[in-house]
Amino acid sequence: MKKFAKDFLWGASSSAFQIEGAWNEAGKGESIADFNSFKHSTEQADTKIASDFYHHYREDIKLMKELGLNVYRFSISWSRIIPDGDGEVNPEGINFYNQVIDCLLENGITPFVTLYHFDLPYALVLKYNGWQDRACVAAFRRYAQICFNAFGDRVKNWQVINEQNLMIRVDERMNMDHVPVKDRERIRAQMDYHMFLANAYAVNDCHAIIPNSQVGPAVSATMTYPISSKPKDVWAAKMNDNFKTNYALEMYCFGRYPGYYLEYLSKLDILPDFEAGDLALLEEAKPDFIAVNYYRTLATRYFPADEKHPLGSRKHDVDFDLVGYFKTEQNPNLKSTEYGAQIDPLGLRMVLNEYYHQFRLPLIITENGLGTGDHLSADGKIHDQYRIAYLRDHIAACYDAIQDGVELVGYCPWSVMDLLSSHQGFKKRYGFIYVNRTDDNLKDMQRIPKDSFYWYQNVIKNNGLTD
Ligand code: BG6
Repeated sequence: MKKFAKDFLWGASSSAFQIEGAWNEAGKGESIADFNSFKHSTEQADTKIASDFYHHYREDIKLMKELGLNVYRFSISWSRIIPDGDGEVNPEGINFYNQVIDCLLENGITPFVTLYHFDLPYALVLKYNGWQDRACVAAFRRYAQICFNAFGDRVKNWQVINEQNLMIRVDERMNMDHVPVKDRERIRAQMDYHMFLANAYAVNDCHAIIPNSQVGPAVSATMTYPISSKPKDVWAAKMNDNFKTNYALEMYCFGRYPGYYLEYLSKLDILPDFEAGDLALLEEAKPDFIAVNYYRTLATRYFPADEKHPLGSRKHDVDFDLVGYFKTEQNPNLKSTEYGAQIDPLGLRMVLNEYYHQFRLPLIITENGLGTGDHLSADGKIHDQYRIAYLRDHIAACYDAIQDGVELVGYCPWSVMDLLSSHQGFKKRYGFIYVNRTDDNLKDMQRIPKDSFYWYQNVIKNNGLTD
């Protein structure tokens, strides 16, 4: 039996643009996600309707209660609250989240709110090219303050930006695919820096506005194996972790870029514009926890500076390679999901140990799960044993990390119900609750608990694993 502490938080996660639908209803403005995250699904489909949580939230929260969740991690859509990002507040947006929060509390579920999950208001993209302009920092700060003031009487737990460290590398999420390649790294560095400032303001404002609040960042965790024991390969693996996640954690926790990162920015002559007072702000803003999103591990080898990459010096995506540093390789020792994620529960134990022992902050897992196609069987059920196996092994890894001394306070797998995958629509599902629709057919949107729903219900009831 692997039993967790009495107050361990068992939850589940989602994000606004992936679950809500109602993308152009009730005064909501468009977000960048309304454009780019859907184009990978079929064009004719009503993908923007997502899981239609906006119209089903009472029924969905009832199911969350039946599942036994004590916390629900979801995001607020910035452009539902402020349709053009920095102008008038939309009362219908405030009202919607008030109802969701109240409904959660009535059902005994603690709301855990992310302010920004990949869905920058599109008006800010048009006006400022989004995060490129420092004005976006002020717009975010105001939006965050509006949320803290509107919901802070009931919401004490906040995440500022979801996976800034991953989002910054996805050109379409940053509107970077329109920028000439030669300018991209400079603009990317400036955008990233502006988001760190936005995070710092939000952390300080949250503490100032909401008594007893807890606020922190959510990072996409990177854990990399060297492809061999050659010292240069080992160094490359370390740098892969550093460039993809650890530099961001250092900024969040200490308010400074680490030396290797500054050196890289200086070498490329792309240091961001800093202003007087920035350093004090960044150093002052202290998160209360680190939220960890973990799906898989990576493997890399050393990438010599004189070796040509077929795609140029930097591939502009999540698993980018960096000449002179690292190049991603397949790890032959792990199995992959049908979408290529290398499944590795022990990697989770290692990541939790590394982050906790380096930053000494409580950790909470806000994403972890298996994305795959699910099938409605003839008996009207979804027999997702593969998901149960994945989650069981990762929960066991959490337990082991806690035995190692890690202060892990909760586990919120991705996702509470089927939702729009960020690249593969409804073909790739993660949920405990099946949503009866496909990319090109809305069907009846019926909610059907999967086998994993009943399995997780038991994990929560038993406060741990029995096998
Ligand atoms: C995380 C994101 O990076 O991964 C989620 O925070 C996303 O929004 C999840 O859905 C899984 O990725 P994908 O591409 O399979 O949806």
